[in-house]
Amino acid sequence: MFMERLQKIIASSGYTSRRKAEELIKNGQVKVNDEVVNTLGYKASDKDIIEVEGTILNNYNPKVYYILNKPREVICSVSDDKNRKCVVDLIKTEARIYPVGRLDYDTTGLIILTNDGDLANILMHPHHQIKKTYIAKVNGILNADDFKKLREGIEIDKRKVHIDNFKVKKIDKVKNTSLVEITIHEGRNHIVKKIFASLHYDVLKLTRSKYAFLEIADLKSGEYRELSKNEVAELYKLK
Ligand code: URA
Repeated sequence: MFMERLQKIIASSGYTSRRKAEELIKNGQVKVNDEVVNTLGYKASDKDIIEVEGTILNNYNPKVYYILNKPREVICSVSDDKNRKCVVDLIKTEARIYPVGRLDYDTTGLIILTNDGDLANILMHPHHQIKKTYIAKVNGILNADDFKKLREGIEIDKRKVHIDNFKVKKIDKVKNTSLVEITIHEGRNHIVKKIFASLHYDVLKLTRSKYAFLEIADLKSGEYRELSKNEVAELYKLK
């Protein structure tokens, strides 16, 4: 069940600031299920009826936003019938969060999780063309013809993928592998693997390093942080 401190619930409902909410609680002007609560540590759930100065709050499901560096062998889902670890298991929160879009089970890197359906819809809508950058390790060394195809865009399942940017970052001639950074604004499943498959390469490792203006650089595998208010506002502006 979702549990949150009373002053945070009141503030996130937009009724007043958190500091003012604390004063109201201390002054005995807040009731939970018709009982006055004047202790600041009190936690309420989304089932409780909260009354502030005689007004019932009806919108107190605080929105939360996280950025996670997803490790390999974690599924981008809220549950899994095969009992695999899910991204939501890595984040300590009582809120009912879900991932915005998907990374494959074996893909690592940047994923946003939230309980804000409005923002999730904006970010996932193809019309908004959010840019995502991936670093792919592929089994081979790209040639001039591959470069030409990537520049012109690549047809996948009868629809062209426009590549916003790509750069070969490293070549290992002994192991015959390349590290390629590629930026696209597509959300189709397995799209990066399909792009390289169409050029006859396998993706050996894949990580998402950027999502719009967000970067994963400061987070280690499995680490996460809350997005700042500013970052959330900037994400909303991508609409
Ligand atoms: N493209 C892929 O092929 N896999 C991912 O996980 C993300 C993009």
